[in-house]
Amino acid sequence: MERGAPGWSHGLVGQSPQICEIRRLIEKLGRTHAPVLLLGESGTGKEVVARAIHAANANGEFVPIDCGALVGPLVESELFGHTKGAFTGASEAKRGLIEVADGGTAFFDEIGDLPLDMQVKLLRLLQEHEFRPVGSLKQRSVNIRVIAATHEDLARGAARGTFRQDLYYRLNIVSLRLPALRDRKGDIPELIDHFLERLEAHHRLTSDTLDAMMNYDWPGNVRELQNSIERMVALNTGPWLHIEDLPSALRNHGAAEPPLVSAVAAGSETAPLPLLYAPPRPAGLFLATVEKETILKALVATHGDRAKAALLLGIGRTTLYRKLKEYKIEN
Ligand SMILES: Nc1ncnc2c1ncn2[C@@H]1O[C@H](COP(=O)(O)OP(=O)(O)OP(=O)(O)O)[C@@H](O)[C@H]1O
Ligand SMILES: [Mg+2]
Repeated sequence: MERGAPGWSHGLVGQSPQICEIRRLIEKLGRTHAPVLLLGESGTGKEVVARAIHAANANGEFVPIDCGALVGPLVESELFGHTKGAFTGASEAKRGLIEVADGGTAFFDEIGDLPLDMQVKLLRLLQEHEFRPVGSLKQRSVNIRVIAATHEDLARGAARGTFRQDLYYRLNIVSLRLPALRDRKGDIPELIDHFLERLEAHHRLTSDTLDAMMNYDWPGNVRELQNSIERMVALNTGPWLHIEDLPSALRNHGAAEPPLVSAVAAGSETAPLPLLYAPPRPAGLFLATVEKETILKALVATHGDRAKAALLLGIGRTTLYRKLKEYKIEN
């Protein structure tokens, strides 16, 4: 989706009520400096949202910190930096990630994996806005926005003692839960469109491919959808993305509903797929008429869903909207 287009928000694609609400919150949160906790299953877009919150008042850098990777003796130095000679091998002073994020956003991804001793230091950072590099006697002040994300239940971690309760309360002041893709399936066509565009792929989906994708539950959420598209595009040189190109888990979901466009296929349900074809052209018919008819058929086939119709037609939504206006088609 182009920057500035309706619904565009720092790369966050979707028009479902849940995504619209999240977009509204992102704009609000952009104006504050409060810590934010992002919850949601893997692949639901937590990092996309974190970057969007940062971009909403874009100051300084966005520094992702993968808490799962913070292991070993150098963790504290990685986060908070060290002074020259702080430990054997520290021949130069070094800035840590927190200092890099000064004036911007530190994104603690998979915060549930942050080692307990670092949790204490993060709490201090949140409360006092200061930290101490390894080997230094002095605290340093920073101005940092903290965004944390987890797919785990932090409350349970806090109850079990693997996550500090005080840090949990501090982080949980503003929390935002990202919906699973299966709970906002209406966004699937737009996401497909988005990923095809990003790959600069000009493929179209056959209707049974789209059906299968709409019927599937997407346990890996948007990331799984993105991977499926990439896989299909990689396997295909022709213009159509066929159901056979889908991973097998998805392929089995194609038959659950009748093909999307069978209703418009010239007089029968048995027409071959892909079904969106230009109708036979009587002599002297204007191209515009054919185009208008094809658009109308796509709209009928998708029960008026413009995003899906655009996908079936193999054109962008913006182009479809322009043509709807041009041909004065209301639906
Ligand atoms: N609403 C969305 N619009 C556009 N792209 C999205 C959206 N949600 C997710 N993505 C894409 O899906 C992929 C996974 O998103 P992201 O990394 O933000 O998920 P996550 O919740 O952080 O997952 P994990 O917990 O596995 O790290 C990314 O490539 C991201 O660009
Ligand atoms: Mg992530």
